[in-house]
Amino acid sequence: MTAVAIDGPAGAGKSTIARAISREMSFVYVDTGALYRAIGLYMIKNRIDGDESIVSALNKVKVDLKFVDNEQEIFLCGEEVSGEIRTPEVSMMASRVSAILAVRKFLLDLQRDLAKKNNVIMDGRDIGTVILPDADVKIFLTASLEKRAERRYKEMLEKGLNVTYDGILSDIKKRDYDDSHRKVAPLKPAADAILVDTSDYSLEESIKLVLDVIRKKLI
Ligand code: DC
Repeated sequence: MTAVAIDGPAGAGKSTIARAISREMSFVYVDTGALYRAIGLYMIKNRIDGDESIVSALNKVKVDLKFVDNEQEIFLCGEEVSGEIRTPEVSMMASRVSAILAVRKFLLDLQRDLAKKNNVIMDGRDIGTVILPDADVKIFLTASLEKRAERRYKEMLEKGLNVTYDGILSDIKKRDYDDSHRKVAPLKPAADAILVDTSDYSLEESIKLVLDVIRKKLI
């Protein structure tokens, strides 16, 4: 099996780029952020807060991924939550639960199993460093903070969410800091990752750039 790991901060374009490339290459696209988001959503819905309470609630959480026409659907305790996990509130909670070691362990096998059984493009924060250290290609995708906030802001507006640019900017800033400063599996490029900065590229250009990097590496 072949694995492509794409890591990077929020709003760098990982999911849009990875999804487009997975279609082109007929790989399964796995968005691992959705797993942390589903756990975050569970904690919000059940009003569970505090590390200890989150850890003890984990045995009631059931997260499943399904792939329909190469599109990932996520289920939380049997209920489809693919849309519900995309709010700023869930983003912040996902980042919070993702700093807990037990949460990361809880999701480890699920991610590795997918890569054992399928050719995957997997995106997240620790795919190249922790989940798939032997991935065939590792890309660290980034862009300036302002560009990332701008893209995320437009995305949320298109979904009809009531957000402000400043709110999104400060959320992303906090998530960047928290995700890269946590003790377990912090966001950082793997030593053998190829760095791609998409700040000055359009989406189409970024897709082409990343696809070229992957193809060169897989030859
Ligand atoms: O990629 P995303 O924005 O959907 O991820 C939501 C949060 O989940 C992110 O702030 C950090 C966490 N996350 C993680 O710790 N490890 C991953 N592999 C993916 C996401």
